[in-house]
Amino acid sequence: MRLQNKFAIVTGAAGGIGRAIADALAREGAHVLLADIRSEPYAPLAERQQYRNVDITSAVAWQELVESIAPGRIDILVNNAGITCHQAIDEVVLEDWDRVVAVNQTGPMLGMRAVVPVMRRQGGGSIINVTSSWSIVAAPGVAAYHATKGALRMMTRNAAVTYAKDRIRVNAIVPGIVRTPLTDAQPEVTASIVAMTPFGLAEPEEIGAGAVFLASDEARAVTGSDLVMDGGYTVA
Ligand SMILES: NC(=O)c1ccc[n+]([C@@H]2O[C@H](COP(=O)([O-])OP(=O)(O)OC[C@H]3O[C@@H](n4cnc5c(N)ncnc54)[C@H](O)[C@@H]3O)[C@@H](O)[C@H]2O)c1
Repeated sequence: MRLQNKFAIVTGAAGGIGRAIADALAREGAHVLLADIRSEPYAPLAERQQYRNVDITSAVAWQELVESIAPGRIDILVNNAGITCHQAIDEVVLEDWDRVVAVNQTGPMLGMRAVVPVMRRQGGGSIINVTSSWSIVAAPGVAAYHATKGALRMMTRNAAVTYAKDRIRVNAIVPGIVRTPLTDAQPEVTASIVAMTPFGLAEPEEIGAGAVFLASDEARAVTGSDLVMDGGYTVA
């Protein structure tokens, strides 16, 4: 029970990596609010979990979410929700680009903006932003995804140095290729990345373990870091 009595918010937690993180945090004793744009989670909730239908691109939704939290405490925020778009720069459809920026970049900013005052008031907290190995190395096309995950990597570092004085730690989890609804929906892309990954396809639970570490007091010396969980993809 490394997170007993902690309160956590995990975005994009209907399924996939977000749900695995929400499950891992709850197993360690945290109370977890699972926020997602889907009206229902893919699987029934576990102990100490509650589900909320939230669009993370809405500043109003974030404000309402934070104000509605019963304990008035937020110890952990995991900005996990993310979307992708397979367009190279010369193929960009502006509406699609704007949507990826809104979800992958503006959403995490709004989340951090909403929880920082609460964490500051209570004397600290842990924020985890889920980026991607494509925030470190490039692949052809997928321009908006690369741009936003790269931005989120630097937003993480910026927030880490800005809020260190408030004892708020801000880190990134950097997944490689993980079995989720997102990767299931694009089997050819997934197979090609798996082929370049020494440890092959990861399971979402493996990413959950990294989130538990960064959320826990064991990581009290860790801020502004990238926890690269990519099965060796970026170093192969
Ligand atoms: N699966 C992978 O291989 C992989 C690799 C690297 C990074 N990532 C990152 O991990 C995170 C989770 O990915 P996943 O594979 O579990 O994806 P997923 O598509 O299975 O889950 C993403 C969730 O985010 C939710 N979401 C989308 N827009 C939202 C919004 N506006 N407000 C609230 N929720 C919203 C979706 O409904 C969905 O449940 C993403 O940020 C993704 O970029 C995934």
